[in-house]
Amino acid sequence: MSPNPNVKGNRLVITLLVCMFIIYNIFVYTGAQPKEMPIMSEKAIKGQQLYQDNNCTACHQLYGLGGYLGPDLTNVISATGKGEMYVKAFLNSGVKSMPKFNFTEEEKEAIVEYLSEVDKTGYFPNYEAEKKPNGWVKIKTKHK
Ligand code: HEC
Repeated sequence: MSPNPNVKGNRLVITLLVCMFIIYNIFVYTGAQPKEMPIMSEKAIKGQQLYQDNNCTACHQLYGLGGYLGPDLTNVISATGKGEMYVKAFLNSGVKSMPKFNFTEEEKEAIVEYLSEVDKTGYFPNYEAEKKPNGWVKIKTKHK
């Protein structure tokens, strides 16, 4: 039996596709990566634990994710007129449908630390976007 003349052509196409796949992967995996991920302090991690254990997320959102009974807390620390004392006041007394929590001063500090480290990661909602000529969108960010 003589070899099928298409086999050679098929091999060429497959070789070409494999090469393109390799080049594509080199391009993707060696491209610019974010230099370092923000790392939370130990105190903030404790605050995050308290945030989870007390189901804050059932009513509040971070970056829009969570329950919707209360407001988003992403930028509650840096928002004008709000901040540390403001958050503590809510934790001390509760309001309307937000229960009063009996946190110790240390626990409140940890939650505030968690929220302020979250705040430093970005903006929500983030409407300030710049459309690049190449089609990418650059959003306003807090890291370099
Ligand atoms: C059962 C629902 C519920 C839970 C659970 C809850 N909250 Fe709230 N929280 C609310 C509501 C509702 C408001 C808004 C009250 C208002 O504005 O009158 C609020 C307001 C706040 C505010 C003020 C936000 C702002 O921008 O004005 C902070 C800070 C806050 N909560 C933190 C927390 C934290 C931290 C926890 C967890 C320890 C928590 N909340 C758990 C319902 C809840």
